[in-house]
Amino acid sequence: MRYHRAMTIHDDGQSLFKRLERLERGDSVPLVDALDALPWNRDGLLPAIAQQFDTGTVLMMAWMNAESVARTLVAAGKGTLAADEMFPTIKKRFNSINHDSTEENRRSYRELLFTTPGIEKFISGVILFDETIRQAAQDGRSFSEVLAQNGIIPGIKVDKGAKDLAGFLGEKITEGLDGLRDRLIEYRGLGARFSKWRAVITIGKGIPTQYCIDANAHALARYAALSQQEGLVPIVEPEVLMDGDHDIERCEEVTAATLKTVFSQLFEHRVAFEAMLLKPNMVLSGKECSEQADVVKVAESTVNCFRRFVPAAVPGLVFLSGGQSSELATEHLNAMNALGKHPWELSFSYGRALQEHALKAWKGDAANISEAQKVLYHRAKCNGAARFGEYSKEMEVAAT
Ligand code: 13P
Repeated sequence: MRYHRAMTIHDDGQSLFKRLERLERGDSVPLVDALDALPWNRDGLLPAIAQQFDTGTVLMMAWMNAESVARTLVAAGKGTLAADEMFPTIKKRFNSINHDSTEENRRSYRELLFTTPGIEKFISGVILFDETIRQAAQDGRSFSEVLAQNGIIPGIKVDKGAKDLAGFLGEKITEGLDGLRDRLIEYRGLGARFSKWRAVITIGKGIPTQYCIDANAHALARYAALSQQEGLVPIVEPEVLMDGDHDIERCEEVTAATLKTVFSQLFEHRVAFEAMLLKPNMVLSGKECSEQADVVKVAESTVNCFRRFVPAAVPGLVFLSGGQSSELATEHLNAMNALGKHPWELSFSYGRALQEHALKAWKGDAANISEAQKVLYHRAKCNGAARFGEYSKEMEVAAT
């Protein structure tokens, strides 16, 4: 496997582990620091020994790689928060609460999100935007440090947005491959341990074209391979939009065609499936479709579609919410997990569906920070329950 950290045993690691031995109960060190201090060998492997707890007999010795450690971090009951809105998107979100999108307003909003008490119980990682990964909390710690010190892995959006695809009316291509290697190296230095690239596929009359799917899949695969080479776990996001009046069958057909092409490109580009996550849309009826498929139908169509096209080697599918209501996004995830055991973890990487209610509770007013954090905590908790298929509408009532 080509994904590995350029990490060998070193003084820092040895002194960190010596320090760990002397910690008091309740003390902690940032998870990313501990991971970096592990003595990876030149192949990116780490020896792991299992011993009988009472006799100390060595039962097994194996080699763990960075992928299996990353996989261990995608813990049961957790998912990621997408807080990587680009300038036009965060402006739109702030407009909805009559708040100006200034640098300081964006900073204080993200601080509210990242310092929500207890959020680490349900959130394993946060996707940041270029501006955000360079910003700091009021106490001076960078946001990467704030997150990592709370056991949450910082990630970074690395694409430069979806632009019109020349010659293909109504279709988009995501830009950002130029200079990507250098940006990845810089982001890793700023604390990011995973990355995200979003491609957009639009359903409409005569679209998507296979050319649009091919071009986006190719860019996703280029990005994913580069990301792995620079030591960041890629989150590959091919989003089939829910805008339009198409039915759920059409969404399934387009999602299938997209996944088929994306995985073929990832394979061609020698991306290690074990060291990536897929961030897909769910299979849904178009927003304007007169017949909306129910929760069970959405769950079954989504799982069936992904079983056909996503290799079992991929550790997890982390769904985007894509414009569904917060509650429906939770219900859908819950229903999929309730269907039984799947080849991959079925988790969430929601933007709007985690933030929507918190943003409304905040209204841009510092006096509402604590209330907004409670609202975010509640949504994260509901989605945490949905990871086990244990969410119920009573959880919403209990919170009001
Ligand atoms: P939504 O959950 O709001 O769709 O955002 C997820 C995301 O990261 C889109 O790129």
